[in-house]
Amino acid sequence: MTECMRTKIAGIGHYVPEKVVSNHDLTQYMDTSDEWIRERTGIESRRYAEKHRETTASMGAKAARIALERAGITAEEVDFIIFATLSPDYYFPGCGVLLQRELGVTNKEAGALDIRNQCSGFVYGISIADQFIKSGMYKNILLVGSEMHSMGLDFSDEGRAVTVIFGDGAGAVVLQPTEQEGQGVLTTCLHSDGTHAEELAMINPGSHSGYHLGTEKFGYPDVDVPGGTFVTQTMVDNNLLAPNMTGQLVFKTAVVKFPEVIQEALHKTGLQVSDIDLLIPHQANLRISQFVQKSLRLPDEKVFNNIQKYGNTTAASIPIALSEAWEAGLVKEGNLICLAAFGSGFTWGSALIRW
Ligand code: COA
Repeated sequence: MTECMRTKIAGIGHYVPEKVVSNHDLTQYMDTSDEWIRERTGIESRRYAEKHRETTASMGAKAARIALERAGITAEEVDFIIFATLSPDYYFPGCGVLLQRELGVTNKEAGALDIRNQCSGFVYGISIADQFIKSGMYKNILLVGSEMHSMGLDFSDEGRAVTVIFGDGAGAVVLQPTEQEGQGVLTTCLHSDGTHAEELAMINPGSHSGYHLGTEKFGYPDVDVPGGTFVTQTMVDNNLLAPNMTGQLVFKTAVVKFPEVIQEALHKTGLQVSDIDLLIPHQANLRISQFVQKSLRLPDEKVFNNIQKYGNTTAASIPIALSEAWEAGLVKEGNLICLAAFGSGFTWGSALIRW
């Protein structure tokens, strides 16, 4: 390993589906209002993918093609794929190989890794890619975060607190080694705490069959149904195939963990909050980002938010925001960019990147 070798983001791109769904549009399906959604989350609209024509992997491929072009490489040159999503095309195999096929990555030796870290998936992906690049194992890693939430939400009143928050979209980056002085990923910090795993989760379908790890609070036991491991009639009859969220616990934990993990990264690199040129928080909820901004005392121009337009796109939110910020000229060579995420698991993390 070359001592001074670091990992740089060589190309970035994003894709959001054309269909815009406003808060008002959602009132057709559930008892909600534009005012409630804006006040609690800051969200004004979100995008929904086109059913039967788009998938998590196909959206990821659209974002990836842009990132590859901006990095000046072809799909054949990709030697490793990392795909982060909680809404994959299939239960298995993962989206990594589907992306490989869709892009025509002709290098059949290329590895493909799927990661399931939900909202912090992209930050975890940066960290994984960084280790592979620094060790010299790979030279062109394609990291994609993509979500198609619209296919898995509960559009009844029961699901409204979750459904109004989430949207579809994809973002991608190409990571490469750099020896340019000071450039690249300076550090990453990753954390998890499974104590509240079911508080922001979609536990069905799954192998738990409703009877362990505290899941009885969220599911009905199917233990008397032989072979009832995945989707069962009980799940369908009781509307148990949708995500659930204990919103206030998520909010309270997130506003502590975001600043903590950002400070940790700064501490590791001997930098200060004032050194950050742009913070791109996972777009969980505008109120959470505002709390984080306030607690770090960052001015408005140093925090990028686009949740107003896209809602929470989970693993895709950071690369979409980073790509939009880059396109707007807010990410320049030499800038210190801080990425931070918190979400289901709970898992959280941060990355400091000198662009
Ligand atoms: N429209 C209208 N009313 C709604 C609603 C909706 N979409 N969703 C819930 N409500 C109602 C509730 O039923 C409740 O009604 P009640 O008082 O009659 O019982 C009321 O609004 C308050 O619900 P509550 O859940 O206490 O609201 P809240 O202030 O906690 O806000 C969240 C809910 C989800 C917006 C908030 O908890 C939050 O933002 N949490 C973090 C979520 C997040 O960031 N998730 C992503 C993490 S990666």
